[in-house]
Amino acid sequence: MKYIMLNHKMNLEYKTIKKYIKQLATIDTKGHSLIVFPSDIYLTNFIDSKFMVGSQNASSNKDGAYTGEVSASQLRSLGVQYSLVGHSERRKYFKETNQDINKKIRLLLINKIIPVLCVGESLNDKNSAATKEVIFRQLQGALDKLSSKDIENLIIAYEPVWAIGSGQIPTNEEIEGVIFYIKDLIYKNFKVKVHVLYGGSVNENNIDIIKQTKGIDGYLLGGVSLHLDKVQELIYKL
Ligand code: 13P
Repeated sequence: MKYIMLNHKMNLEYKTIKKYIKQLATIDTKGHSLIVFPSDIYLTNFIDSKFMVGSQNASSNKDGAYTGEVSASQLRSLGVQYSLVGHSERRKYFKETNQDINKKIRLLLINKIIPVLCVGESLNDKNSAATKEVIFRQLQGALDKLSSKDIENLIIAYEPVWAIGSGQIPTNEEIEGVIFYIKDLIYKNFKVKVHVLYGGSVNENNIDIIKQTKGIDGYLLGGVSLHLDKVQELIYKL
């Protein structure tokens, strides 16, 4: 079983979403775990579908006067089971820090929502051979003072920033190196095993190659997630 997470980002309008939900009901998951991360405004439309639902973000505050924000407890009250945290687009455009991410993870865990923590290096980091160092810092900050029990309820997604939406993907050896680096680091520090996904330009054509990478527990799909026929093709190839 692999996780297949569909991150819609800020895409799809209501009419299309309604069609999408109908098509979603026809998807054959082949026993894999499919989770949809639509825009918050559509979460309730997905809650009644047979698939699990996640939010793309959650507030770092518990509740109160934070106009435009959505809290972990509000998400929980809808039946949301997963939430992305620290996606590189949120780090870049909304200046999310590892400290913000740590607060979000804590609130999500309190509300029994599984955080999907996104980590990954920029092209600059990669070119200066700093990938592991950057990921170490992201994990150190995001997981600060969490317990082993907390980590057991968390998923990590390795998404190299330069691979997102670019059509460029690391080699299988590079992905494998980072995935086992993360798994070993977590085991060393928390004595628990963590699931690690890969995300960044995965599609129905390159999945044949990427799936040969050892250690991948699933995929976080962006662009392809908007086209369920492509998602289905990808699932058949897993
Ligand atoms: P793409 O699949 O479009 O590269 O996006 C990946 C991503 O950012 C998923 O969170």
